Amino acid sequence: MNDPPIAGDDAATPLTPGEHRDLIPSYITNRDQLNEVEQLGIAEADRWAFSRKRDVLDERFLLDLHKRMFRDVWKWAGTFRKTPRNIGVEAYRIAVDLRQLLDDVRYWITHSTYGPDEIALRFHVRLAWIHPFPNGNGRHARLAADLLVVSLGGERFSWGGGRLIDTDTLRKTYITAVRAGDRHDFAPLLSFARS
Ligand SMILES: Nc1ncnc2c1ncn2[C@@H]1O[C@H](COP(=O)(O)OP(=O)(O)O)[C@@H](O)[C@H]1O
Ligand SMILES: [Mg+2]
Repeated sequence: MNDPPIAGDDAATPLTPGEHRDLIPSYITNRDQLNEVEQLGIAEADRWAFSRKRDVLDERFLLDLHKRMFRDVWKWAGTFRKTPRNIGVEAYRIAVDLRQLLDDVRYWITHSTYGPDEIALRFHVRLAWIHPFPNGNGRHARLAADLLVVSLGGERFSWGGGRLIDTDTLRKTYITAVRAGDRHDFAPLLSFARS
């Protein structure tokens, strides 16, 4: 049985009916097609982001990155969400909480509060928790963490070594590790992201 077009799993974000109308390619009828066309944009954004000088800890850049990833698929690519989610801060707090996060991460870097992997993964969990966008938050926050860890002299993460978006077991392990991160236990995510 096919999944309904844009249904989320329990960790992904369900879309509101208004957002359903914001899908750009009209031929998309199932989740596999959606993943496929999203993946093309993500690969392009990945090349774009890694091949230029950039400051990941910049709101403008994070918005541009999301736009690059999803602009062929979603009309709201690169814009903050305006509606609530079961994960994430209230929509009106996104900009302020993001600014606070970027300040905190700069502080950790300046003071070497944590090693590069832990800084990037703490950034990842907080960014995913803020949930700035209507969708694509996980993929965006993983790419952002990859860019950050590379800019800190590390190697990009392997995130379990497979396609998280459509591999159920990987996804479950990842979400469990992210949730441990919410509770300030980063050991599971530190290990998962390098596995
Ligand atoms: N408890 C949580 N704390 C922080 N982030 C979470 C939590 N649960 C889920 N997430 C993040 O939200 C993502 C799902 O949101 P979504 O916007 O649908 O992203 P994507 O479409 O890229 O999967 C997960 O992949 C994960 O990164
Ligand atoms: Mg999603």
